[in-house]
Amino acid sequence: MKYIFGNWKMYLDYKQSVELANSLVKENLKNENVEIAVFPTALAMKDVTDILQENFKTGAQDAGHPSKGAYTGMISAEMYKNIGCTYALAGHSERRYIFGETNKDVRAKIESYLDAGLKTVVCIGETEQDRNNDKARYRLAKQILRAFEGLNFKEGQIIVAYEPVWAIGTGNACLPADAIDRIDFIKSEIAKYSQNIVPVLYGGSVDENNVLSYFSEDIIDGVLVGGASAKLDNFTDIIKNVLK
Ligand code: 13P
Repeated sequence: MKYIFGNWKMYLDYKQSVELANSLVKENLKNENVEIAVFPTALAMKDVTDILQENFKTGAQDAGHPSKGAYTGMISAEMYKNIGCTYALAGHSERRYIFGETNKDVRAKIESYLDAGLKTVVCIGETEQDRNNDKARYRLAKQILRAFEGLNFKEGQIIVAYEPVWAIGTGNACLPADAIDRIDFIKSEIAKYSQNIVPVLYGGSVDENNVLSYFSEDIIDGVLVGGASAKLDNFTDIIKNVLK
């Protein structure tokens, strides 16, 4: 199984998200060998999940780790699960670097998503500064250690997304050869903590023109697309290019 995931971030409001979901359904892009999921705003999650149900899965961009109670402003993993979500992202770099989430926070989220029965997409990636200081492997190894050491999970419950921070939203996608090298490293680091197969996706400025250069590589299990997934033409072209 390979994966095409679309993170709509905060690009689309409720109405636009529902419109995009309705348009995607009409494209009839379902495929047995490729799992497609979109990650809409929480506001539109229920509607988008209902609209896409026979075609694509949905996932939360983030969820709080307490499951219920006096946590103003939070939405729990369990609440997403209850309305039909399949996935949730943990540790997206925008959560880490804009909202100050630490590896400890990310780990708490991973555990709460697994408890709730959501498949967890653990996002990792080095910053530009890490890369310039030859610290990319150090950063990835640390994020993997904190996410996976002693973690109890079954095969199929976790996917990792390698998203170099410098490649996100910049148009400066990671060279496929470099993504392969990093993903090889990531898989060997994960193997230190788990025998389970953990698919690893690439994310960062993926579009309809470059998607195949990642997707066609055996070691890359799919793509996590941001900006281009929030536009009907770009996202359908990405999917069509992969499926043809
Ligand atoms: P872009 O595709 O816009 O670079 O975003 C990637 C991303 O952050 C997906 O989660």
